Amino acid sequence: MPQTPMQTDPNTPMIEIRGLKTHFFTDDGLVKAVEGVDLDIHPDRTLCLLGESGCGKSILARSILRIVDAPGRITGGSILYRAADGRMVDLARARPGSRELREIRGGDIAMIFQEPMSSLGPIQKIGRQITETIRLHRDVSKAEAREEAIDMLARVGIPRPAERFEAYPFELSGGMRQRAMIAMALSCQPRLLIADEPTTALDVTTQAQILDLIAELREEFRMAVLLITHDLGVVAETADDVAVMYMGKIVEKSDVYGLFEAPKHPYTRALLESVPRIGQIGRGRLPAIRGMVPHPLARPSGCTFRTRCDHAMAGLCDQREPRLKPQGAGEVACFLHDDEVRHPAKRNAARPGQDTESADA
Ligand SMILES: Nc1ncnc2c1ncn2[C@@H]1O[C@H](COP(=O)(O)OP(=O)(O)OP(=O)(O)O)[C@@H](O)[C@H]1O
Ligand SMILES: [Mg+2]
Repeated sequence: MPQTPMQTDPNTPMIEIRGLKTHFFTDDGLVKAVEGVDLDIHPDRTLCLLGESGCGKSILARSILRIVDAPGRITGGSILYRAADGRMVDLARARPGSRELREIRGGDIAMIFQEPMSSLGPIQKIGRQITETIRLHRDVSKAEAREEAIDMLARVGIPRPAERFEAYPFELSGGMRQRAMIAMALSCQPRLLIADEPTTALDVTTQAQILDLIAELREEFRMAVLLITHDLGVVAETADDVAVMYMGKIVEKSDVYGLFEAPKHPYTRALLESVPRIGQIGRGRLPAIRGMVPHPLARPSGCTFRTRCDHAMAGLCDQREPRLKPQGAGEVACFLHDDEVRHPAKRNAARPGQDTESADA
């Protein structure tokens, strides 16, 4: 298949998210699940989205595919998708149910979920579901689609794939169902795979196998992968880049080395500090950080993390919202790292690595 330079240039983002807002209009009030996210997704790289439960990871991912359920909807911003032919599509503005969106979803961009049954229908054989997906997006005969589906089932490590082709999802084990879902997602060779906690429900061995498989297929198909996870071990093993999310916002972006070696945002640090030692990163879920995530209907003013931050500066962090700014090789949204807005006398204390000094500022 001929590839345009854009497809292979890892410096040109495949997805550019700008100022994205996805809100839920509930009876109790407005839940700002995604509140002004800027994020780029690059071809041929794995971006891990990290953050505690409820911070908006899944809703951000679902916004990209436009599968946010009511009472939620995108209320602002853009999701520019650069198609293989270089055409730009704003997914945030695409008409729901439009042909354009249906072609992109499942064709160019595929998603796998924590619970395979949320994308595998229960009453249809595995093989039929995969061939239907293939034929929805590509002009191939039934026989060709069948052959490709069986081939893909074998690729994802399902033994006796021709037999499994005829199985119903409930006849497979959890790990095999997860593999079948991945086979279905990859059957159209998507340019972007979004994986939302794809292994959380699996045992550790199967988890590792599935992550290896995603990494292998990413390389082979030169896909972009957006991997959502709570698990720092998974991040360390799979990520090229990391985005840390808190209360609907990205608070830090970095490549994976920068994140583990020199985390900047107090939230990122708190996440990592609870891990005993680099090299001993466990597979557990994120350790608890002091305090609780505020109720989504009671967002703190200014920096939403300030209520749990040891370095919060009165009169600043509660008044103004920090924006993502370049810092080292990454970006961070924190006044501790923003010399411009801090009092000139405290400028020196704003240098990364000297948070203790600035704590009593
Ligand atoms: N249907 C809904 N109605 C109202 N609020 C919702 C709905 N779905 C999600 N939310 C809210 O949106 C916010 C983000 O939820 P989201 O599912 O994206 O979190 P998450 O980061 O994926 O968490 P987890 O790690 O537990 O999967 C949460 O505050 C959640 O309560
Ligand atoms: Mg989620």
